[in-house]
Amino acid sequence: MSDLEKSTNVVWHNATVTRKRREEQNGHKGAILWFTGLSGSGKSSLAHAIEEQLHQQGCRTFVLDGDNVRHGLSSDLGFSDKDRVENIRRISEVAKLFLEAGVIVLTAFISPFRAERATARKVVPHGDFLEIFCDSSIEVCEGRDVKGLYKRARAGEIPEFTGISSPYEAPSTPELKVLTGEDTIESCVDQILQLLEARGVLRINGQ
Ligand code: ADX
Repeated sequence: MSDLEKSTNVVWHNATVTRKRREEQNGHKGAILWFTGLSGSGKSSLAHAIEEQLHQQGCRTFVLDGDNVRHGLSSDLGFSDKDRVENIRRISEVAKLFLEAGVIVLTAFISPFRAERATARKVVPHGDFLEIFCDSSIEVCEGRDVKGLYKRARAGEIPEFTGISSPYEAPSTPELKVLTGEDTIESCVDQILQLLEARGVLRINGQ
């Protein structure tokens, strides 16, 4: 039996306060905005900038941020392929719970593997998962090097660093690609808000 098959003799309990009722109370739909991109590509900055806008509009939101989650929920995980897969599995399950709570959840993880992002997408109903590719070249990310990690990775001090010694598989058909290495953060925020409008996330029953 695999570790993931250990939960037996458990029965699902249906809530009377459903996702639909929560969304009606919130005045908008729940959704997962799944940001993916290299370290330093602007995922967290963008997720927080959008959250700020949505919060000001009265939306219920929450950001799940790579570095923060790795201090708690995923503090036992490193950066091997296996650990990254497990990290993304946990995040996708947490994001699903937020979705059930009617929240617009924004996840900011490198999430480097196409297969794991596809799995995260499949965990929730079709249309609720919006993949946003923060497309910024490694040169730009490395040039910024806000945390000084690229320098250390180049010096061989950090093994399995994404884009240098560990792969990043860019999405081929994301819901949206934002050019975070070239466009302003304001322009990227606008594009994402337009996506939410177009997908009907910000209103209930077409109102
Ligand atoms: S993921 O690959 O599992 O999705 P995650 O987004 O949680 O990664 O964490 C990435 C953050 O951890 C980076 O922004 C960086 O600050 C830090 N980090 C530390 N070591 C590494 C590494 N080997 N590769 C990538 N990021 C790392």
